[in-house]
Amino acid sequence: MLGRNSDLVSIKDVGTDEIESLFRKAQAFEENAEKSCRERILATLFFEASTRTRLSFESAMKRLGGEVISVSGIEGTSVMKGETFEDTIRMVENYCDAIVLRHPMNEAAALAASIANVPVINAGDGTNEHPTQTLLDLYTIQKEFRSIDGLKIAMIGDLKYGRTVHSLSLGLNNYDVSMRFISHPSLRVPDEIKREIKNKFEETEKMKLSDCDVIYMTRIQKERFPEQRAFEAVKGLYKISKETLRSLKEDSIILHPLPRVEEIEQGVDADKRAHYFQQARNGVFVRMAILDTFLNG
Ligand code: NCD
Repeated sequence: MLGRNSDLVSIKDVGTDEIESLFRKAQAFEENAEKSCRERILATLFFEASTRTRLSFESAMKRLGGEVISVSGIEGTSVMKGETFEDTIRMVENYCDAIVLRHPMNEAAALAASIANVPVINAGDGTNEHPTQTLLDLYTIQKEFRSIDGLKIAMIGDLKYGRTVHSLSLGLNNYDVSMRFISHPSLRVPDEIKREIKNKFEETEKMKLSDCDVIYMTRIQKERFPEQRAFEAVKGLYKISKETLRSLKEDSIILHPLPRVEEIEQGVDADKRAHYFQQARNGVFVRMAILDTFLNG
């Protein structure tokens, strides 16, 4: 159960009913922002680069009437002096009512959650998961199609290191969909994630999208490659261009967690199927719903 005494480490922590109730809340906040988090303090600890996730969480908290304290990067923190991650968390929990954490280490969120007595919300832990991104992805899909069941969803690009893909594939276990994973063989979805997928899926190198309802494009995670050479070998392999649009269904939607580098041409932005900026906007309302749930039960 999501709430004051719980954490959001993995998308597996959220049940189907909880997703539905978060979406109802997000929808209500979209229409009218209640100041339900007055006098509460959120700490956003981002030990890795971020624009959208940190700012949308901070915007969400402020829209709910709350306060935010923030760390962005390790520069200027006691981590530079050699403080352990555990000590940082132990200290920060005294200053706030909830922690939103992004960290380059897989399982950092689980570790923080095991230490802190305030809720810990995972905003991306290494190559592992990014559950709040999944919630806004699902919210965007549901808003567009009314129902997620029955859809065919393609995920393209870096399926190995892309934590958004890992969480989304598992989040879709709450629905009845079929998935197509499109990537270079070296960037396939890791086996430990595949083992937990309940829906039908296929893996391919071919960019076949004509039968897909949702096209989820991702950035090749350059910073996660152990060797630059391996990155050079796969960069730029998949692109959505104006040309690609001709093969897509009229009522399909293109999503991307952003930032995009070169995998979606700017010329695509004006097409009615391009939903990635709307998706980023939805992030604020979904994160308001998440914060309200963790801070108020
Ligand atoms: C993603 C992330 O950090 O995993 N960005 C985001 O939060 N929207 C995707 C990415 O960096 O490519």
